[in-house]
Amino acid sequence: PHSPEIDRARSLIRVVQDHPVPGVAFQDITPLLADARAFRACVEALVEPFAGSFDVVAGVEARGFLLAGAAAMLTGTGLVPLRKAGRLPAPVASASYALEYGEAAIEVSVDLHTGDRVLVLDDVLATGGTLAAAARLVRERGAHVAGAACLLELESLGGRAAVPDAHALIRV
Ligand code: PRP
Repeated sequence: PHSPEIDRARSLIRVVQDHPVPGVAFQDITPLLADARAFRACVEALVEPFAGSFDVVAGVEARGFLLAGAAAMLTGTGLVPLRKAGRLPAPVASASYALEYGEAAIEVSVDLHTGDRVLVLDDVLATGGTLAAAARLVRERGAHVAGAACLLELESLGGRAAVPDAHALIRV
């Protein structure tokens, strides 16, 4: 999308060279989140294509939580956190995935139900493993994935192949 507000939000992303390892240009969204206008514009634009088609927002730990909480409040929907393995007191399903740097698993609690229509949110789409695992986890609970969206897609990493229908607000 090329709205002036999203272009402005994009300009607030801070690029940190050589983080977390030499040669990587890390895209830091914290200045965008710290800006009231940009944060609101991004959350609104993230949910806009899915208006009316979901009852629950599922956010991926940790930075996905920031967007998912705001999106759930904005749309009057519920929030279900998809947590890193070992954090939930009563996980009922888990999905493992390869990360850009390593491997991980996410888990979901009993609060996600069969028939829920779920919008999956995360901050960044890199290799796509995380967002794809999140969608798998939602389906494993018998819920319906209404859509998947991220604030930022790192196109060079090719993650779109894993989540072809993902809605990405900003692409670098
Ligand atoms: C980052 C980012 C996404 C994921 C994207 O999370 O927040 O969740 O990587 O990568 P992928 O598309 O290659 O799967 P990270 O695992 O660094 O965790 P954090 O949010 O807890 O910092």
